[in-house]
Formats: sequence, structure tokens, C-alpha cells
Amino acid sequence: MSSQVVVGTQWGDEGKGKIVDVLAENADMVVRFQGGDNAGHTVIVDGKKHVLHLLPSGVLHEEGACIIGPGVVCNPFVLLEEMEKLKEGGMSTDHIIVSDRTHILMPYHCYQDQLEESAAVNKIGTTKKGIGPCYADKYARHGIRYHELKDFEHFKERVHENLKLKNKLFTEVYNAEPMDEEKIIADFEQIRSRILPMIKETTSVINKAIDEGKNVLFEGAQACMLDINYGTYPYVTSSSPTSAGVTEGAGVAPSKIQTVVGVVKAYSTRVGEGPFVTELENEKGEWIRDHGFEFGATTGRPRRCGWLDLVVVKHAHMLNGLTDIVLTKIDVLTGLDELNVCIGYEIDGQILDIVPSDQEEVARAKPVYKVFPGWKEDITKIERKEDLPKECIDYIDFIEEYVGVPVSMISVGPDRVNNIYVKEIK
Ligand code: IMP
Repeated sequence: MSSQVVVGTQWGDEGKGKIVDVLAENADMVVRFQGGDNAGHTVIVDGKKHVLHLLPSGVLHEEGACIIGPGVVCNPFVLLEEMEKLKEGGMSTDHIIVSDRTHILMPYHCYQDQLEESAAVNKIGTTKKGIGPCYADKYARHGIRYHELKDFEHFKERVHENLKLKNKLFTEVYNAEPMDEEKIIADFEQIRSRILPMIKETTSVINKAIDEGKNVLFEGAQACMLDINYGTYPYVTSSSPTSAGVTEGAGVAPSKIQTVVGVVKAYSTRVGEGPFVTELENEKGEWIRDHGFEFGATTGRPRRCGWLDLVVVKHAHMLNGLTDIVLTKIDVLTGLDELNVCIGYEIDGQILDIVPSDQEEVARAKPVYKVFPGWKEDITKIERKEDLPKECIDYIDFIEEYVGVPVSMISVGPDRVNNIYVKEIK
């Protein structure tokens, strides 16, 4: 049995796409289990940049199956658009499967997300892709799932029922225009024949693959600090981007998860609102943003940048049960005289090494830093850990020691090949 989960340990954008792309080389199946097209994965293959939002990065390996699991909220129009782009690039999309239990992210979810964000006093800073409203409908039990597309008369009725309520909300609460039901139906009528062949029961397929000893890779989107339960609520996404999310979102028992790879970026970034203890709202933060190209792949927004926060990474380890760390973008820090790493939060005179649940407290927290000397040498071509500058090795070893998880791989550049393999990820 081999089942690997790849998760983000910070606020997303850790570079999971590239790592999944590397690990997917040996995978028979790649599965996305939560989120939707709020994600933004940039993968560079043979110098060509691919930006994916909904499809797992593992889709670039065409040999295995690529599954959009039941825990995902999937916008079918975005799905087809991404498939089209891959086809234009000469890639196959025949291996893509959408679970029949997956919820359809409807056009009215995107509209609702935009209206809610515009009207909110305390904005979340969502990607406006409709993620929250679609999950809200799912848990309120009036969402529409992919299997419901099979009987189009039934689907039309479901849209009619839902849109009646949504249009009341749009017009009466938000004083906005209603949505046109006929247009929605016509748009679905156009794409339905292309979607139907992809819809399959996936839970038994995934479990059978694991039981048969195939390599199944579960690809997380977003990250631990955006988790609906354990992130900086309410400044979070609406799903569980942790290893626990796999059990729910793909239908796999916890005992079947073998390896949990936590992707840690060598510094911190966040997009959207919410407290961020190690944020650098100064020229250092701008320096990191410029050197790391820290602009959202989905929204283009400049990402907020700051020092590495190991309190956050340790929180991620506690929740995910990490077996390996993959450290990314450490090359971005080359050139700095000194690096800070946060190892505690000072809140009202007390030092904590856990993430408090009350965001007011997090907002008051002052970071307790351990200072490391920087390095100046270009590290992007290095292939063995021992060839890295001593200062860089000390920085990596400290992460390993503080979190208590081996750093098994170090990504030192954006291309598929810019990696140092320290320990085999099994
Ligand atoms: P939503 O997922 O669009 O509802 O957005 C909720 C919060 O999660 C916002 O702060 C977004 O910026 C953030 N978010 C959602 N997806 C990603 C991602 O893939 N990377 C980083 N932040 C994300």
C-alpha cells in the first residue's frame, strides 16, 4: 500500500504544485480532495509555465488517473477551460475523472461570493470564486452534485428551486440584479455532453487502488492556517486542507494514509485578510515579495510577506501528522544579511508556542525570533545538502529540529529539476 498526502503547512502558496508534480512521477493516481478553483498552482515543466486552479498539478502526468474527489467544489466551466488549455499545449486530458458525489460550483455561487465580499464590513478577502457559498449550500443540504447532471430535467428543477431563493437574496438583501435562469440552463446544456463522460463513482476506485498497492497521491490545496476548523477563523477557506480532509474528501480511512508530506516555504506569505504575526510591512517584506515573485496565481494580488513562523508549522505538524517536510523557495532568501525565524508568540506578557484560537489574541501577538546569519552564494544549482552554505544548512537543520520532522527534500529553484533529495519520501 502506498498513499501519500501533500499538504500546505502555512497559508497556501508554499509551492505544493511543483512538489506534487515531482512526486506524481511515480503515482498511479492523483486525487484532489478539497477546495476548488480558489487554488493556484504554478508548475514549470521544460521551461514552460502551467498555471492550474482546479485540476491537480498531478494532471501533467498523463499515465495515471486524475480524480476530482467528492470533497471538492468544482466549477465545470473552469474545469473545461483548464482542460482546453492543456489540450492546446499538446497534453492529454483523457485521464480526468470527476466524482459523482462532487458538488457543482454554480454561477450563482460566484455571484453570491462577490456580493457578500462587497457588502461585508469585515472582509475575508476571498478569491471570489464562489467557494464559501458552494460549501454553505452543501452543508445546508441544497447543493447540486455531479450525478444530478445525468437527468437534465431533474437538474433543471434543482437549479430552478435554488435560484428562486438565491435571486431573493440577491435582489432583496443585496439590492443587486437577479440571475437569469434560462441563461444558466443554456450554458449547462452546452457543456453537459463534455462533462458527463467524466463523472464516475470514485471512492471505491481510490480505495481499490490503495488496497492493490498502487501509488495514490492526494493533493491538498490551500493550507493548514486556512483550515475551516484550525486556521485563523474567520479568515480561512471553507474546507479542511489537512490530512484529515483526505478521509472526508476522498472517502479514505485514516489508517490507509501512509505518508504525509508538509510543504513549508522558507518564509511566510498570506493573501487576503487576517492576522499574520511575522508580517514585514516594510522594505524587507517588499524585498521578499520581489525576489520570490509573491503575487497570487489566482487573483494576481500581491502577497503579504514575512519571516518563517515555526509556531505555525508546528501547529500544522500536530494537525497533519507530518512524516516529511519539503522545504521550498529557500533560494529566495539568498542575499539577506540576517534571517529571523519565529519560535514563540508573546501575548499579554506570556510566551506561547501554540496558535491561539482567538484572532484578537493572534493580532496582539509579538513574534519571538531566533536570528540566523544569511548567505550570499547562488544555491539554485546545488544538488546535495552538504554543498549548501553552512548558514543555509543551519537554517534548515533548525526547522527540522524545532518541528521534529525530517526535511526530506529542499527545493532550490522553480524548475522540476531544482531539488535536493535528502531522504526518500516513501
Ligand atoms: P476563499 O477560499 O476564496 O473563500 O478565500 C478565503 C481565504 O483563503 C482568503 O484569504 C483567500 O485569499 C485564501 N485562499 C484561498 N485559496 C488560496 C490559495 O490557494 N492560496 C492562498 N490563499 C488562498
